[in-house]
Amino acid sequence: MEIINEMRVMFLSKSENESFSRVAAASFISPLDPTVSELVEIKTAVSEAVSNAIIHGYDGTIGVVTLEMRILDTRTVEITVTDQGKGIPDIEKAKEPLFTTKPDEERAGMGFTVMETFMDSMEIDSAPDKGTRIMMKKSLTTDLT
Ligand SMILES: Nc1ncnc2c1ncn2[C@@H]1O[C@H](COP(=O)(O)OP(=O)(O)O)[C@@H](O)[C@H]1O
Ligand SMILES: [Mg+2]
Repeated sequence: MEIINEMRVMFLSKSENESFSRVAAASFISPLDPTVSELVEIKTAVSEAVSNAIIHGYDGTIGVVTLEMRILDTRTVEITVTDQGKGIPDIEKAKEPLFTTKPDEERAGMGFTVMETFMDSMEIDSAPDKGTRIMMKKSLTTDLT
């Protein structure tokens, strides 16, 4: 697939950077003229992955979160969110709807379910004490006008 554009931003694992990541993602894909629902879905998937890196990956410590985005073949958006935090011991378990390791902190355990629902594909690469990488792809609808 041809790379039309790509970007990478790195930021500290502070809660205010969840909204920064949403704005950065929305801004990067705006030349594609996404529909309102595509825009909401991509912003939501990005912020779920970024909040997981901040809350679970770094868990109160400060580290670096990396958001990378690519536009492939004109209308496919590829998103990667990486942390070097504590990692996920059981990926299949973590993906289950309603599974959360922080039930006491208003976590719904729906982050991975939301990412899988809103994007065309999602892959998790994680190892305990090494960190986590989430890769997601979504092809935007073609504007026929
Ligand atoms: N980046 C990450 N680093 C470490 N653990 C993670 C990460 N992302 C997700 N997890 C684990 O997967 C679980 C499920 O994530 P998610 O579906 O987003 O639910 P929630 O964030 O509400 O707990 C989390 O509770 C956590 O244990
Ligand atoms: Mg989550």
